[in-house]
Amino acid sequence: MPGADRTPRRVPPPFDEDPDLGELVVSEDELASRIAELGKAITADYAERPPLLVGVLKGAFMFMADLARAIELPVEFDFMAVASYGSATRTSGVVRIVKDLDLDLTDRHVLVVEDIVDSGLTLSYLRRNLLVRNPASLEVCALLVKEGRVKREVDLRYVGFEIPPTFVVGYGLDAGERYRNLPFVCAYRDGEDG
Ligand code: IMP
Ligand code: MG
Repeated sequence: MPGADRTPRRVPPPFDEDPDLGELVVSEDELASRIAELGKAITADYAERPPLLVGVLKGAFMFMADLARAIELPVEFDFMAVASYGSATRTSGVVRIVKDLDLDLTDRHVLVVEDIVDSGLTLSYLRRNLLVRNPASLEVCALLVKEGRVKREVDLRYVGFEIPPTFVVGYGLDAGERYRNLPFVCAYRDGEDG
């Protein structure tokens, strides 16, 4: 799996004037080319069994939109929203479903689309919650995984990038609901996250 480029890079203008934004972690071009690759892999793997994409709101909305357009199969969509208790920049692992799925998962090939895996607690909860609904298969595609942070055994079928364990924003990810619309992923302040 390609890691993001590790030489320190600044965010592009005009965002470089925002003192709350730190180093560029994944650029717009890197996102586009890696998502094209993920789409190809998913298209090949699910050729005989088009998946039901389950996006985890809100963070995954942008990744879900781009990934879905890179998959050349008649996919279906559903979304769920979860809230995890904890501080603004760290999860406690206690997860609450804020919006449940509309569709029945029975006998469906479910591909969960997640923005970022940090401790893995959210995903481990989601996996257990979705498995009892009897899908034919259940896999996860995560755009970002923080190196050395995953505490819970989580089986990630597809991963976009491994990134350093700092708090990041952009491309769907927020800090207090801001920065989701940045077209790249960058560090937020110099916030060491763990
Ligand atoms: P986990 O349960 O520790 O794996 O945390 C996963 C969830 O926390 C993600 O789905 C995000 O919503 C949020 N999260 C974790 N790290 C970050 C980050 O660096 N920026 C923004 N949100 C994050
Ligand atoms: Mg999330």
